[in-house]
Amino acid sequence: SGKHRIAVIGSGSWGTALAKIAAENAARHSDQFHTTVNMWVREKQVNGKKLTEVINKTHMNQRYLPDVPLPANLVAVPKLADVVRDATLIVFVTPHQFLPTVINDLKRAKAIHPGARAVSAIKGVEVEGAEIKTFASVIERDLSIPCSALSGANIALEVALEQFCETTIGCPTHNDSLLWHAVFDAESFRVQCVEDVNGVSLGGALKNVVALAAGFVDGLRLGGNTKAAILRIGLKEMTDFCLEFFDGAQRSTFSNESAGVADLITTCYGGRNRKCAEEFVKSGSSFDDIERRLLNGQKLQGTATAEEVHAFLQAHGRVDGYPLFERVYQIAFKGLAPAQLVKGL
Ligand code: NAD
Ligand code: 13P
Repeated sequence: SGKHRIAVIGSGSWGTALAKIAAENAARHSDQFHTTVNMWVREKQVNGKKLTEVINKTHMNQRYLPDVPLPANLVAVPKLADVVRDATLIVFVTPHQFLPTVINDLKRAKAIHPGARAVSAIKGVEVEGAEIKTFASVIERDLSIPCSALSGANIALEVALEQFCETTIGCPTHNDSLLWHAVFDAESFRVQCVEDVNGVSLGGALKNVVALAAGFVDGLRLGGNTKAAILRIGLKEMTDFCLEFFDGAQRSTFSNESAGVADLITTCYGGRNRKCAEEFVKSGSSFDDIERRLLNGQKLQGTATAEEVHAFLQAHGRVDGYPLFERVYQIAFKGLAPAQLVKGL
């Protein structure tokens, strides 16, 4: 039939929340989509049982999204090749550090449908020397399928609890925007599509670096004025970075869309990067330690992004143009005292 089949690769907190919405919409628009939505779950034993079996039996992902009921047409599948077989719409939503392995496994299995289209909800960047790539373009390059980017002010648990919010999808064609809008738009999850795929991806990646700065501010027990200054400077560096290094990126993606200013705000107040950075200042422990201790298996994205962005700017001799990004890197990795975050900024 001409119906699309949706598959979701990733089942952490955001993976599960997005898969829930996609499965609800697949059931709602059964003229357009196959009802069953497969979700890749990296197998794990939970209390002596397989996580995939627990999810499929209880319709909850107690490991990463506790107590949120999932639709019965969302099916947890342990083998990647089985997840994407015959899928025409593939959602990539693993923590960014695991994407290379996933891509290699998919290539080795030759499992991707030749007419498939993808969307990346991954927040991060790939840097090699003086080259930087968003994960939407990494997926396009490595799997030879068109890839859109979904990003917005979307703390996973709040989305899963159906609290009203918005998201942005950057799409390379009008056809992609119609398809992905149908997959994700819902009454409490409003989707706006824009053409700026790079801007949407970069907004999601770079705000995690600013969120670390916001957490340092909280750890230093500084107030709302300081955090507002960090948000303003952060938004400016995010926008400047994108306009300097990515052709076709739009300022309006940062100033007007959920993937820009709105995601920056929610992450700097309620995100995991903020929380762990506050703890970094208060405890003096390493980020690896704090991630293990506070996140219960979930993954921090901002620290690796701060490192990648630093390496990229260094390769271009442009570290001085981005003082906030640079200080976050120096504090997180080079022992600069957190109080130096704002000195002379
Ligand atoms: P998460 O932080 O909950 O991480 C847990 C996931 O990582 C699980 O699916 C686990 O199986 C997987 N994992 C752990 N070790 C692995 C390994 N070695 N190989 C492969 N997978 C492994 O994940 P998430 O919150 O769904 O984040 C995915 C992406 O979505 C990130 O880039 C994140 O920035 C982005 N995002 C997250 C949120 C949020 O609120 N959680 C919101 C928007 C975007
Ligand atoms: P954290 O990874 O800092 O929790 O941010 C989540 C997010 O991207 C919200 O949109």
